[in-house]
Amino acid sequence: MHRIGVITGGGDCPGLNAVVRAVTKSAINLYGWEVIGFEDGFKGLVENRYRILDLQAVSGILHRGGTILGTTNRDNPFNFLIEENGQKEFRDMSAVVLENLDRLGIDALVVIGGDGSLNIAYQLHQKGVKVVGVPKTIDNDLSATDLTFGFHTAVATAMDALDRLHTTAESHHRVMVLEVMGRYAGWIALAAGIAGGADVILIPEIPFKLEKICEKIEERTLTGKKFSIIVVAEGAKPEGGEMVVQKIVPESHDPVRLGGIGNKVGEEIERLTGKETRVTVLGHLQRGGSPNAFDRILSTRYGVAATKALKAGNYGSMVSLQGSVVTTVPLEDAIGELKKVPVDHEMIQVARAVGISFGD
Ligand code: F6P
Repeated sequence: MHRIGVITGGGDCPGLNAVVRAVTKSAINLYGWEVIGFEDGFKGLVENRYRILDLQAVSGILHRGGTILGTTNRDNPFNFLIEENGQKEFRDMSAVVLENLDRLGIDALVVIGGDGSLNIAYQLHQKGVKVVGVPKTIDNDLSATDLTFGFHTAVATAMDALDRLHTTAESHHRVMVLEVMGRYAGWIALAAGIAGGADVILIPEIPFKLEKICEKIEERTLTGKKFSIIVVAEGAKPEGGEMVVQKIVPESHDPVRLGGIGNKVGEEIERLTGKETRVTVLGHLQRGGSPNAFDRILSTRYGVAATKALKAGNYGSMVSLQGSVVTTVPLEDAIGELKKVPVDHEMIQVARAVGISFGD
């Protein structure tokens, strides 16, 4: 092994730069390898856009949000959007990727991504590319790892928002609804709701009934609490209803973009309880900014583990946190199925025990 490539793919999240830095430093310090970073995720791999990552290039980026390499959550080399003469067409460009890797003398690739990017990594692995994956996403919805990096920072951001909403809710005797991200999984809403002292948490895994939410608000009013805090995951849906889709991005691995349930829930609460209700959509604030201490450490551990997995010839694997230990698992174990919140999860039970309603 002489030269490895690194890619950050999919939606960005806090800790990406910390992984890029750890992969680069450990590859150089431990094994004397050269490291090349592809720009804008798999798009750069198809278009052969890259830069050399040396110790200087990754200096001072540990604490920086985003990714110095750039990323996209819409470009898939196996189904790549080409625009020619005003015509749009999807083509399989994986052969071009293999050619580019070969021409650059890249022996192996570290793919830092969520389920979409790791699916692509697995397909490349099946075509003979030596790949190791690193689990990234604020959603924490990847199987085969206890945690993805970026999740804890997103939860901290949502918790901070809830702390702020609390004080204004209390002053105005209002209901405050906070919509958070998470796609089809309720991990961010659940964790932020517990950390931020929410009264109601709505997650995709537990369809809600509006009357149950209103009951909780009324119950609080009767005990003298004139305000309520509701956390809604973007994928939450009413019993018998559907998730609210904000837009469709056809070229994306998962074209559906969720969003809008917070406003719907807020309007209904105001109508049914007569209580003044305000809605905040936290959006991409959850993805931006510096990783917290936990994510800086996890990202660094993941980056070093990825380099070591390549050195050990452990290709087609993903680094993974199991309990308190960083290890590796087969890539295909991570991409088969999204990790949703089990409805009997210990954190759900804890939330219920402290009086939080799930609207069920
Ligand atoms: O997967 C990360 C995530 O932030 C989801 O929580 C959210 O649904 C989605 O990406 C938003 O995607 P985009 O950045 O394309 O709006």
